[in-house]
Amino acid sequence: MNGTGPLIDVIAGARPNFMKIAPILRALKARQAAGSHLRVRLVHTGQHYDERMSGDFFRQLGIPDPDVNLEVGSGTQAEQTAAIMVRYEQLLLSARSALCLVVGDVTSTMACAIAAQKLRVPVAHVEGGIRSGDWGMPEEINRLVTDAITDWFFTTSEVANANLRKAGVADERIFFVGNTMIDTLLANRAQFRPPSFWAETGLREGQYFVMTLHRPANVDDSQGFANLLRAVGQAVRGLPVVFPVHPRTAKTLSALPDKPAGLLLVDPQPYLEFNYLVQHARGVITDSGGVTEETTVLGVPCVTLRDTTERPETVTIGTNELIGTDPAALKPALDRLFAGQWKKGGVPDKWDGRTGERIAALLEELLGEGRTPAAQRR
Ligand code: UD1
Repeated sequence: MNGTGPLIDVIAGARPNFMKIAPILRALKARQAAGSHLRVRLVHTGQHYDERMSGDFFRQLGIPDPDVNLEVGSGTQAEQTAAIMVRYEQLLLSARSALCLVVGDVTSTMACAIAAQKLRVPVAHVEGGIRSGDWGMPEEINRLVTDAITDWFFTTSEVANANLRKAGVADERIFFVGNTMIDTLLANRAQFRPPSFWAETGLREGQYFVMTLHRPANVDDSQGFANLLRAVGQAVRGLPVVFPVHPRTAKTLSALPDKPAGLLLVDPQPYLEFNYLVQHARGVITDSGGVTEETTVLGVPCVTLRDTTERPETVTIGTNELIGTDPAALKPALDRLFAGQWKKGGVPDKWDGRTGERIAALLEELLGEGRTPAAQRR
């Protein structure tokens, strides 16, 4: 935070944010070392606070300790939103920044964007413009609200650019930079390593599945969740399913009378171990968005238990397929996988490992010139 140049708040709150900020912070640091006057304040909202959901990621990805931790913790959507807004507003009132940079679509993203913009601190949104069209997902509300008050959009795809243009955003505010999550994937690929249970559980390359589930639609109703797990067991032809259990999912799982057979239940995995598991799996079953981007780049077949995606290029270009939330759809999908009929897939434009550098260069240009965001001139 030393120096006198424009201060950028980089906001992170929940697990999928951490891999997105790491390359941006690294690129900004490299610029500072080369003489840039930009300053960075890393703000952790505390939305995710466990070692397994947060601390492990900071350590493995080389993210510096946050300058500020708002420590909001668990709560309902509104409680978390409110607590983050109140505490981030206090921070801005005591030490204003020149820009609030938010990433992704979690509660922290929206809450900080609102608090900042109301104080006329410009907002930049990394991963702006993506849309699932499903207002039943809190993330979609977060995207819509954040993008409605964002000044500068750093986008991951042409689809996102088109969505923004359709919403009336001028081209001068849209910067197609690529995907910072993929920067992190490519930068860490050589360090992926097997988790401690790999040998003792006899996992072998290509002879298991990885599953992640945490969306309310899939895990909050215990009967539906039990049906889904049974369907997974029936579709995987006896192969083990490694299932790192998200805290939200753990609550439903612990209330089920019978623990599902064939599932290897493990804690949420650190980044390097999780992506090792993904890279060597026969396939991935998930309801996450970010995981579908990683499987696309790693070329691993991915079955998504959702009706919609905000990342359509993982389906049109990558290895992902949406099968909906009806468990009956799992078996036919995995039958095709076992028959060797899964698509091979390619990698979307600019998912090349250089996105953090592009963003840092743009921030320097935008803030260094003291450019006022178009929205603020109105
Ligand atoms: C959040 C994001 C979602 C992201 C997911 C990844 C929103 C709206 N959703 O959902 O986009 O894919 O993170 O993990 O922001 N909990 C812990 N330890 C923690 C964090 C949470 O036990 O470190 C518990 C909470 O008490 C809560 C549950 O996990 O009961 C859910 O956490 P919450 O932050 O509400 O949202 P996620 O479902 O994790």
